[in-house]
Amino acid sequence: MVMKILLVGSGGREHAMAEAITREGEVSLYAFMARKNPGIARVAKGILLGRETDAKKVRDFAVKEGVDYAIVGPEAPLEAGIVDLLEESGIPCAGPTRAAARLETDKAFCRDMMAAHGIAGCPRYRVFHDTGEAVAFIEESDGDLAVKPIGLTGGKGVRVMGEQVDRNGAIAYVRSLSGNVVLEERLIGEEFTLQAFVDGSHLVPAPLVQDHKRAFEGDTGPNTGGMGSYSMPDHRLPFVSEEDYQKALRIMEDAIRALARDGFPYRGILYGQFMNTREGPRVVEFNARFGDPEAMNVLPIMTTSLADVVCSIVEGTLSGAKAGFGKKATVCKYVVPEGYPERPRSGESIAVGDTGMARLYYANVEERDGSLATQTSRTLAFVGIADTLELAEGMAEGAAASVKGRVYHRRDIGTRELLARRSAHMEAIR
Ligand code: AMP
Ligand code: GLY
Repeated sequence: MVMKILLVGSGGREHAMAEAITREGEVSLYAFMARKNPGIARVAKGILLGRETDAKKVRDFAVKEGVDYAIVGPEAPLEAGIVDLLEESGIPCAGPTRAAARLETDKAFCRDMMAAHGIAGCPRYRVFHDTGEAVAFIEESDGDLAVKPIGLTGGKGVRVMGEQVDRNGAIAYVRSLSGNVVLEERLIGEEFTLQAFVDGSHLVPAPLVQDHKRAFEGDTGPNTGGMGSYSMPDHRLPFVSEEDYQKALRIMEDAIRALARDGFPYRGILYGQFMNTREGPRVVEFNARFGDPEAMNVLPIMTTSLADVVCSIVEGTLSGAKAGFGKKATVCKYVVPEGYPERPRSGESIAVGDTGMARLYYANVEERDGSLATQTSRTLAFVGIADTLELAEGMAEGAAASVKGRVYHRRDIGTRELLARRSAHMEAIR
């Protein structure tokens, strides 16, 4: 029997999800997208364009097409209660309910949950709802703080004192948020991402990935949604020890257990953003979904079908045997409009040249009469997959460099030099 799966979302991450769902087996994909992603549209049996937070419209589409299961790419529809509504209509989802998704959508909920259950890796933090109190806290602090808006901000909302803002900047930022912030200890170290499939009680980890948030080479320039990422054939990272890895995994498992105990069983994809510090991994944040770009590192090397994983998440029968990953290195590079993220040049024609063996994932790009134009966010992603990081990097770099037009990408992602710098940084911290 053909399995029908609904996918919500329209970026590079969702293109990789669509590909992984339809790669093998008898699967029909139905896609609900904010805008038409040409890559998703090509593999989908049916598509509908609309606001991805319009939960009723998504539900009506799913019911009309008679889908069996649903999976959601971005966080905004989760916060809009899309899973709750679909499940009320008898469509099980590989995604958390609105209450469980607060792990991502409500930074105060996340920290309070970690503190209440004594979960390791929680930085010192305080939640504020009052401008005067938050400002006084900053004035009295030693200045090593991260300022986090409590709600969703598209991953660009955190301002770290000493990095993006000084003390006065932090105070002005707190005022602009009417004092609704979490102020927490500034974590120093190397960041890494651990994504996992979760069925309510079992957790199956994907390979570790490192993302690159800064716009320009050498980790300079403004923060972005992520300029690219890499993973290694052994599924680990050179600056994360076995002990660090086991601690991070344990933190994720503890978070799932704590949520279940509090009455919010978690199903779907759990994304842990960690800072590897002198004291080991600490939690920067949890996300209730795959990362973008990190999904493009792990999904293409899955040795099992994502459609089957969706089934086992929903049925609560997930196991390591059901979600496997090949022993390959991956490098993902995003090509973005000139001026991104602050003043992106949208509507610029681009031409993709010889991309060799790299995979191409469409992101925020318009296709008209077979030609492509930039929009305001990340445009195209290229992923190299090979036995070594060097080979994977060469594939992704060659493909990204082949794109002609008013776009740029980071040449340093996945290079030996960058990795050596990460490892040296970690050594210095320890
Ligand atoms: P988020 O929106 O939570 O993903 O945060 C965006 C970025 O801000 C993270 O990837 C980190 O680089 C940085 N960040 C967040 N929290 C902290 C923290 N407590 N200490 C240092 N950097 C942080
Ligand atoms: N790459 C960061 C995120 O997806 O939140």
